[in-house]
Amino acid sequence: MLRCELFLAVTLLFLGRGSSGADGPAKIPSVGVMGRRPLQPPATSWSFPRRKRDVEPPSYLKWVAFEGTLPADAVSNWNDYAKRMEYVCSTRVLGCNTGAYVPDRGPFCFFPFAEKEHGTSTFKVLVNVGDFEALDWVDASFGSVPENAVEGCPSVDVFVGRNRYGLGKVNKEQRAAFIVVDDEEVWYKWYQVLVVKKGPSDITISDVRYNFSGAVQHREDVTLTKTTMKNEGCQGVRKAVTLEEATEMEHEWEIDQRVFATVHGVLQAAVLAFNETGWEVTNVNNIPWVGGASTSEYVVHTRVVEEEVQPRMVCTVALEGSRLDVRVPFTAQLTRNFGDGQVHHVAVTGWARSQAVVGVGASVKQCWPMTDVSPCRA
Ligand SMILES: *[C@@H]1O[C@H](CO)[C@@H](O)[C@H](O)[C@H]1NC(C)=O
Ligand SMILES: *[C@@H]1O[C@H](CO)[C@@H](O)[C@H](O)[C@H]1NC(C)=O
Repeated sequence: MLRCELFLAVTLLFLGRGSSGADGPAKIPSVGVMGRRPLQPPATSWSFPRRKRDVEPPSYLKWVAFEGTLPADAVSNWNDYAKRMEYVCSTRVLGCNTGAYVPDRGPFCFFPFAEKEHGTSTFKVLVNVGDFEALDWVDASFGSVPENAVEGCPSVDVFVGRNRYGLGKVNKEQRAAFIVVDDEEVWYKWYQVLVVKKGPSDITISDVRYNFSGAVQHREDVTLTKTTMKNEGCQGVRKAVTLEEATEMEHEWEIDQRVFATVHGVLQAAVLAFNETGWEVTNVNNIPWVGGASTSEYVVHTRVVEEEVQPRMVCTVALEGSRLDVRVPFTAQLTRNFGDGQVHHVAVTGWARSQAVVGVGASVKQCWPMTDVSPCRA
């Protein structure tokens, strides 16, 4: 008896209100699948303790507090009805609400609430850092949301939704999506929900295109090794020495989008090789990518110097070359393959750096008389 009265009171109390975020109740449905009032009555404000969600693995999808300008990589939606680009926003004002930030309409998040459009300057914008996450709009209805739907606020059953009129919110408790249409809140039974693809994926960075017009190169003369030739005798003699030294040819790749520093996968790229006149692109190799990639190989340089050395003279012989350091910008595709036919592509830019010692040769540098021997008899 008591319970019954209580329920009646609650119903009456909230009659005449529109949608009210996750924490508030809503009023009794009108008939049909679309209307100016929300469906679903019985939600009460003394709600059950909410299920605590599992701790999510690190995600590149984040709600970022709005600080006056549109953050990079904000998640957008083309509103074909209003002919404008909208960005997904959420606010804790009036519970939890999601809606649209439209730069031309000022620094506000507009959202449907209680039959009207509301705006707040305290809000967050949804950012897909580096465009790394695979996002999708998935059809749903009657308050249901697909797996991995994007929540408006932590652990509140309000999700980012849209339909052809623009961005809005999906409220599970009220079993509908709420969208602002011409300044009024309208509820819909069929809508789309923003979903982020989860699960392991194979990452490949491929289609690497170097732009040699943007290349920056440094050249430095280096001495790889030195030795001496000496003639202790009293007649000129042909002497030969062999000079040998290994140098490392190094190749490194990095991506400008620093967010990918934690990504593990495979880089499919051609290695740059110096062919004595310029840098050449060689065959494509698979190189492990752990936030970046590098390969190196040793090159052994061997040269023989043969020279006549004058009597009682010492000569230094040097193996010399030029150390080249080139940085070449590139563009590439980062691909996440989820193994279920779904593939997500991200355009990336970066720098390849190659170092090599080239133009290696050996020669006699200088000669001087030996001091620790007695002079030759004339
Ligand atoms: C290559 O680099 C040059 C110099 O930085 C730049 O002007 C040009 O637009 C780049 N080309 C491409 C295709 O990115
Ligand atoms: C060396 O590479 C440059 C630049 O790619 C190319 O134009 C030239 O033909 C190559 N020379 C030789 C000898 O392979």
